[in-house]
Amino acid sequence: MNIVILAGSNRKNATSTRLAEYTAEMIQGQGHEATLFNLYEKPLPFYAPDEKQETHENLADLTVAMLAADAIILSTPEYHGSISGVLKNALDHLSQAHFSGKLVLSISSAGGAVGVSSLTQLQTMVRNLHGINAPEWISIGGAQRRRFEATFDGYEEYEGSQDIEERVQRVLGSFLNLAQTLTAARKAL
Ligand SMILES: Cc1cc2nc3c(=O)[nH]c(=O)nc-3n(C[C@H](O)[C@H](O)[C@H](O)COP(=O)(O)O)c2cc1C
Repeated sequence: MNIVILAGSNRKNATSTRLAEYTAEMIQGQGHEATLFNLYEKPLPFYAPDEKQETHENLADLTVAMLAADAIILSTPEYHGSISGVLKNALDHLSQAHFSGKLVLSISSAGGAVGVSSLTQLQTMVRNLHGINAPEWISIGGAQRRRFEATFDGYEEYEGSQDIEERVQRVLGSFLNLAQTLTAARKAL
C-alpha cells in the first residue's frame, strides 16, 4: 500500500512532525510505501478560490500524492483546542476526490496531557471529505512529547518512551490491517 502522511505543522522541530516521521518509518518497516508531506518544508498558498492555484508546485505535489494514496495519516499540533491553521488550509485545498473511501488516521501533539479536541475536529473534517475515520487515533501530550523532540540527532530514550512507541505501533498495526481490507475492496469495485 501507499500511505500518505500529511504533517500539519509550520514549526521546524515540531513533535507532531517527528511523530509523523516515526509512523513513516514503521510503515516502511512493514513493507509499505510511506510518503511524508511536511507542510513546514512545502508550504501551500492560502486557499483562494478566485485565483488559479493549481500550478503552485507544492500544491500540485500534494494533490498528486493524495490522489495516489491508499490510506492517509493527518498529523497536527493542538492549537487553541483545534488543528493548526496550515493543516486546515491544506484540507481546504483538497476534496472528496482525495479522501473518498480511504482510511484516515488522525494524530496530534498537545501541550496538555492529551490533544483530543483537535482529533475530534479532524475526524469531523475527514467525515465531510468522505474519508473513513480509523477507529483509533494517536495523541501524545505533555512530557510524552520528549520522545519526539528532535533538536539533536535521533530520539531521546527515557523512562516511558517504550510505552509510547508500543502504543503508536499497536495503533499503526490495526490501521494498516483495516487499510489493507478497505484498499482491496475499493480496488475490486
Ligand atoms: C498557538 C498555540 C496554541 C496552543 N493551544 C494549545 C491548546 O489548546 N491545548 C494544548 O494542550 N496545547 C496547546 N498548545 C501547545 C501545543 O499543543 C504544544 O506545544 C505542541 O507540542 C505543539 O505541537 P508541535 O510540537 O508539533 O509544534 C498551543 C501552542 C500554540 C503555539
